[in-house]
Amino acid sequence: MSVITAMMSEKVTAGVSRSQNQRGSVSVNSLTKMFGPVKAVDDVSLSIEPGEFVALLGSSGSGKSTLLMMIAGFEVASSGDITLDGIRINDVPSYRRGFGMVFQSYALFPHMTIAENIAYPLRRRGLRGGDVEREVRKALKLVALDGYGARLPNQLSGGQQQRVALARALVFRPPLLLMDEPLGALDRKLRQQLQMEIKLIHKEVGSTIIFVTHDQEEALSMADRVAVLERGRLQQLGTPRELYEKPATAFVADFIGEMNFLPVELRQSGGEVCARSTDLGLEVVQEASQVLTSGGRGLLAVRPEYVGLTPDERASATVLESAYTGTNQSVLVQVGSIRLIARISVSPGRPLFQSGQRVRIEIDAAHTRVFPTAS
Ligand SMILES: Nc1ncnc2c1ncn2[C@@H]1O[C@H](COP(=O)(O)OP(=O)(O)O)[C@@H](O)[C@H]1O
Ligand SMILES: [Mg+2]
Repeated sequence: MSVITAMMSEKVTAGVSRSQNQRGSVSVNSLTKMFGPVKAVDDVSLSIEPGEFVALLGSSGSGKSTLLMMIAGFEVASSGDITLDGIRINDVPSYRRGFGMVFQSYALFPHMTIAENIAYPLRRRGLRGGDVEREVRKALKLVALDGYGARLPNQLSGGQQQRVALARALVFRPPLLLMDEPLGALDRKLRQQLQMEIKLIHKEVGSTIIFVTHDQEEALSMADRVAVLERGRLQQLGTPRELYEKPATAFVADFIGEMNFLPVELRQSGGEVCARSTDLGLEVVQEASQVLTSGGRGLLAVRPEYVGLTPDERASATVLESAYTGTNQSVLVQVGSIRLIARISVSPGRPLFQSGQRVRIEIDAAHTRVFPTAS
């Protein structure tokens, strides 16, 4: 079960009236964390604006939690700096950072009612009486649990308990809310519902959010910007659209969405790179933003929706397999030693592609990316 706790500053100054201000900008600079010989986080630098919702996305073991734990103050950085609103906080203990936290591995206080759980961080901040009641009621409403205040945690479902934990982490309106796979244990429908709720709550509360997930759909649909991590290294930090349309590395291109990779020969002249595929009879010229590897071999990345197919009996490409999904047909084609997937939008009356059919492949060069092969 996902579990959750709320970290609180010992100071009483951070009352609930502090909301739509400009606090909560977070920067990490050349942050590295070693566990013995393992570089869990490798020279990561990124800046997050106040009020921004940033997802840390990567597969298991990519360093997401370690990065989050260093920001939270539960792990000590091996080197590099963490700043909050321009002030270095490496040496500030976690309980003084005053961040909200939602984890997988913490439970609600089992002996306290839901209302008492949510009130806890407010009381720690010196709020009393009607103020607490009002804020708790508001928080319960935000997470769609009005009327559940008097229950004990074990009288709620797992999903409901996580909502309570979210309410508890948000009720004191921390400048920064850190979440580590908070929805990981929920079923798909509930997860999507809570994704929406968290976005709404983010709008209402205005806290900066750093949200760890290994689910790219979750990251892309929730976050303003997504930081993609691989083996401890930051591959790219960008809006969902930037990641999808302009992946900075072959890893990001492959990790986000569906992608075809075609082997190409690279030639650089001046500020341009020419990528050539003999199998496809295709040449793509792009600005040389990356240094070519000595071998001059690379990969041309193109999304299935930018691969066009035209029936042509004299063409050398053959349809191997296809799948019809109503609005689209996904078509696997082979040409020479290359296989690629095309996503064709189905229009009424136009025949579908069939296995064995000969087709001409058209690739829209404007929607391709060229990457040097890793040396
Ligand atoms: N306390 C620890 N001791 C040793 N190695 C660790 C520890 N925590 C994490 N690691 C290692 O650091 C790497 C990153 O782990 P983690 O940050 O948990 O990744 P993620 O959250 O992306 O799954 C992994 O190789 C993991 O095994
Ligand atoms: Mg993790």
